[in-house]
Amino acid sequence: MMAWAQPRAGAGRRGVNPVAGDRRGEQDGPVPTEIRELTADDLRAAHALSHEAFGPPRLADDAEPGPYPPGRRIVGAFADGRLVAKLSGIDHRAWWHGAELASLGIGGVTVAVEHRGAGLLARLFEDALGAAREAGAAVSTLYPTAPAIYRGQGYEVVTDLLTVAVPTRALATLRVPEGVRLRRAEPADVPAVREVYRRWASVHNGPLTRTGPAFPAGDAELLAEPSGITLAERDGELLGYCSFERGTGYGPEAKVEVPDLMASGPEGYLALLASLGSHSSVVGRIEIRTSGDDLVRLLARTSDWQVVDRHPYMLAVLDVAAACTGRRWPPVRATVGWTVADAAGGRGWTLELDGEGGASCTPGPRREDVPTFSRRGFAARYSGHWSCASLRGAGLLTGPTGSDALLDAVFTGECHVRDYF
Ligand SMILES: CC(C)(COP(=O)(O)OP(=O)(O)OC[C@H]1O[C@@H](n2cnc3c(N)ncnc32)[C@H](O)[C@@H]1OP(=O)(O)O)[C@@H](O)C(=O)NCCC(=O)NCCS
Repeated sequence: MMAWAQPRAGAGRRGVNPVAGDRRGEQDGPVPTEIRELTADDLRAAHALSHEAFGPPRLADDAEPGPYPPGRRIVGAFADGRLVAKLSGIDHRAWWHGAELASLGIGGVTVAVEHRGAGLLARLFEDALGAAREAGAAVSTLYPTAPAIYRGQGYEVVTDLLTVAVPTRALATLRVPEGVRLRRAEPADVPAVREVYRRWASVHNGPLTRTGPAFPAGDAELLAEPSGITLAERDGELLGYCSFERGTGYGPEAKVEVPDLMASGPEGYLALLASLGSHSSVVGRIEIRTSGDDLVRLLARTSDWQVVDRHPYMLAVLDVAAACTGRRWPPVRATVGWTVADAAGGRGWTLELDGEGGASCTPGPRREDVPTFSRRGFAARYSGHWSCASLRGAGLLTGPTGSDALLDAVFTGECHVRDYF
């Protein structure tokens, strides 16, 4: 776990701070609010707050709350000793532009009804993002219930985690390509399965590495999560895999859920889609978890691809220099500058590509002779998803347009994610 997951002393973001207290009480003087990391003693209060926000069943008085999920640092705001707001910071690594970056996942954000609109959210983010930055996190991501909640913190929507429904009969006509063999994964196959995921993830922007404490480390644990994992092989070489969760019952309303479907080429994809089509006599639809636009659509013969669930995914760049020097670049020599504006005025940045896939990224004073991104505008461009033209249309990029084509060319790639948190 990264250092930010440990309690830190004297960071200036902790302790009772009546000056920066909950503004709700301002007419009688601010209510002192303490910001601190939650401990096991706060489990019941944290569960009650989650129940109010997201609706998991209330905990019975005599029931013991379960532990916090692994790999999370949960920070809370306390007013008069009572937990009134919290969020979870999750220790992730994610693929961005051909490299793994340390990333802070944010989840479980909630403010008690009576304390909303009082600025507690910003204080929790100040603590969580500050600690993550100190520990080397370059970026942060989250699934918002409403994007506007997080835009002020520099986050923007860069893709969507989707569930798409495909009628099983639409896949039933597919055949496993000749020479390709399907078989069920066993524990000894898990390293190769992880490698297929890693190869897929490493050529996209956004996928988590699925390493670290928030993910199952053991092969048996990974295999036990779904009903099964089907492998597609040719001559003993793994072409791809799909994990599937067989729901209950059978008939037109029944479904098979597919959390992962990935392969190195069309043969693997077609074989795995054919394996899913073989459920056609017992389930009406296959629900595939995907994001953005899935290359499976390039292989499908019909237009049956209905989005049935959508979770927008937001990115913030916590450290411009770390995000730009930690990634890979096209092997060209070029220099480009931009400003990232913020409430304090902002900073200018000069990026120099070295022609070999590396770069330096140097901060300086805010510049007016280069394009100016808002913080969320820069996150959107960094993701590769939103073009300069779109960002200008939304007012997230202003100033000289001369380097837009270069900015579009060097921050490119498809944005994807497969893991909800
Ligand atoms: C969402 C929630 C955490 C916001 O807490 P809060 O104390 O009201 O937040 P703030 O007043 O500090 O507002 C922060 C920003 O969010 C925006 N916001 C707040 N509630 C919003 C909503 N329901 N929809 C859209 N934007 C919202 C505010 O306008 C503000 O925007 P700004 O930064 O541009 O000024 C709180 O309402 C809550 O707990 N809701 C239920 C659980 C939930 O949805 N959690 C988010 C999970 S991703």
